[in-house]
Amino acid sequence: MSRLCMRTFLESPLSSKYRLPISPSSAVQIRGNTYMFGSQTQVWSNVKQQSLDEAASKSSIRLTPFQMLWAGRFKDGTHLLKSAQFLRKELPIRIARRVVDFQKLPHIVLCNPVIHDVYELYLRAFSVLNKFPKVETLELEERYNRIIRQLLDDHQNVVTNLAEGFHECQRNVPYETIDAFLNRTLTSRLGIRMLAEHHLALSIDKPNYIGIVCTHLNFRQLVERCSDFARQVCEHTYGIAPGLIVNGHTQAVFPYIPAPLEYILQELLKNAMRASVEHHLDRPLEVPNIVVTLCSNDTDFYVRVSDRGGGIPESKLQDIFKYSYTTMGDRSTIRPSDDPNIFSDLCKGHPNNSPSGGPMAGWGFGLPTSRAYATYLGGSLELQSLEGLGTDVYLRLRHIDGKKESFRI
Ligand code: ADP
Ligand code: COI
Repeated sequence: MSRLCMRTFLESPLSSKYRLPISPSSAVQIRGNTYMFGSQTQVWSNVKQQSLDEAASKSSIRLTPFQMLWAGRFKDGTHLLKSAQFLRKELPIRIARRVVDFQKLPHIVLCNPVIHDVYELYLRAFSVLNKFPKVETLELEERYNRIIRQLLDDHQNVVTNLAEGFHECQRNVPYETIDAFLNRTLTSRLGIRMLAEHHLALSIDKPNYIGIVCTHLNFRQLVERCSDFARQVCEHTYGIAPGLIVNGHTQAVFPYIPAPLEYILQELLKNAMRASVEHHLDRPLEVPNIVVTLCSNDTDFYVRVSDRGGGIPESKLQDIFKYSYTTMGDRSTIRPSDDPNIFSDLCKGHPNNSPSGGPMAGWGFGLPTSRAYATYLGGSLELQSLEGLGTDVYLRLRHIDGKKESFRI
């Protein structure tokens, strides 16, 4: 996973030493109480364990993307009220479960300052959301939206913070504990953020969108957008980037939620580009294209990302889907920042003339997070390495209007 902000929807890993970015100016009124986000007032300090446990034990409702559309828009805004009322019940349950899950971590992990900060963020979110009164008017809905927006913002760096925290304490806990905790936390967070973003987006009129669902997603254009992003990062890091060929079902258009798909594709494309460039350090003008093959059938759609980046050694294959595993920084991997002259000839005249150790990779979260998201979205992520030649990564995701039931958020 890169350290660069790819989409605030899911992640914004550029935090300054990972202190919580809470804006000092936001005060929120709930039932006459003022909650100062960003003040030193610990609004969560009086959260009772009993209310957390109670909320966590309630059953949560997971909706299919089509149920999220709330069967239309009404001029009087009743669909917004209905959506806010659903969130008001649902979010405290899901967030309480996150808090309780943090509490079950080994003490030494929860004591890690960065992880403890994230735990407190969730505690605070629970405290604020659990107290919010019933959303019966559009005015209250607007107040509720302000809180949701602020929380989404405050939680932007959660994944980076977890990556840093678990990197620091990975030697103190069995890997299985970290793996299970991160899979649950990251996918549950994805669901929470999709629900919250969807609600906020319901009040915005955007062609081809209902909330966060794009009703006519152009498969090829989305891949090309992700590739443009990955190419920029790659060029910024190495001074060059491989080209891209897209083939297969390039005309496919279908409804989907673009954000998680974009996140996964950006991670896969950055990995493919990094491997391709690093495998051709001695022949930078011959870096082979990345080939992306698209396929869409009645139930699923697929993306295969094929690179000629030398593949992955057999001995490392069992590690690449582990959180925090990365070869960025290995002795075997030349980082452009280590030798800024590597691509000096190529970079002449290039807008990013000085290749710097950029955000190409580094936390070792890209593959495991992408696989956890793909599984959550009813799909899979598999990788086939041809050691010495290259790597094929297969992403399969379930259609949301397909013949089989789609995933639930
Ligand atoms: P990061 O990109 O931060 O290192 P990832 O989880 O995305 O984390 O990848 C983990 C490791 O898997 C990479 O550091 C790299 O060694 C290996 N890897 C992933 N994709 C490829 C690929 N297409 N070709 C070669 N190695 C790869
Ligand atoms: C998160 O992004 O971690 C969240 O749980 C968001 C939510 C508090 C609105």
